Amino acid sequence: MKRILIPAMLAIGFVATAKVVTIQLPVETASYKAGAGVELANSQCLACHSADYASMQPPKPRDFWTAEVAKMKGKYAAPIPDDQTNALIAYFSRSYGTDTNAASTVAFDSTILDPQTLATKMGCLNCHNVDKKVIGPAYQDVAAKYAHDANAMQRVREQITRGGSGKWGTVPMPAYTIMTDAQVDSLANWVLSQKAK
Ligand code: HEC
Ligand code: HEC
Repeated sequence: MKRILIPAMLAIGFVATAKVVTIQLPVETASYKAGAGVELANSQCLACHSADYASMQPPKPRDFWTAEVAKMKGKYAAPIPDDQTNALIAYFSRSYGTDTNAASTVAFDSTILDPQTLATKMGCLNCHNVDKKVIGPAYQDVAAKYAHDANAMQRVREQITRGGSGKWGTVPMPAYTIMTDAQVDSLANWVLSQKAK
């Protein structure tokens, strides 16, 4: 009995340890705090600096974040779509500020299926380019890597919906769960269709 029990308990201990290690990764720099709108923040506000820029701010009211988002757009030319400005202000005022009542739902238009529009709206193109490496790999290089992989679609879908690092380097990509399956398919197909010219 004891001989069977001990390895079983060791195995449980191992799983628990592995989980703790995963949670202790420095998520703060990899993405913004969880909450409605975080995917927009990850898409629009990680290309130039880490999430530390927000967490280093003492909690401030909504006016501060309204001005901050406007400054990023105006002074630093952050390509933030106009229709995401209010959702971003609400997210930062609530998650890093003092506005606990800021709207808690962020919807993304599920009728958008054109991949280039999706890539722009979701900020993919803040970190990726079709033909050259930026923060993330060039989509042509991703397509070339998966050219002979029967599971290519699945792997690219997983990258989009789960994010993560380790395939191209140590910089993590944020996860996207805000899009419909059809939108993720559209983006994945588009990435995999990029050919070097
Ligand atoms: C195009 C690049 C770019 C993008 C995208 C961007 N920022 Fe910035 N951000 C900057 C620069 C440049 C600074 C100033 C850096 C410095 O002073 O060291 C800055 C500074 C900050 C600071 C520190 C306070 C300040 O005003 O200097 C905060 C907070 C901040 N950004 C939040 C955001 C948020 C929120 C978003 C998304 C809505 C965002 N940033 C997107 C370029 C960007
Ligand atoms: C904040 C920057 C950032 C944003 C925004 C971003 N990515 Fe990425 N992406 C990365 C990084 C970094 C990697 C490399 C991750 C790794 O090494 O595993 C990556 C990797 C990828 C890959 C390669 C996956 C593989 O299996 O090799 C694909 C495909 C991809 N991104 C698609 C997208 C799409 C589509 C979007 C928008 C919905 C997006 N990315 C938004 C940074 C970003």
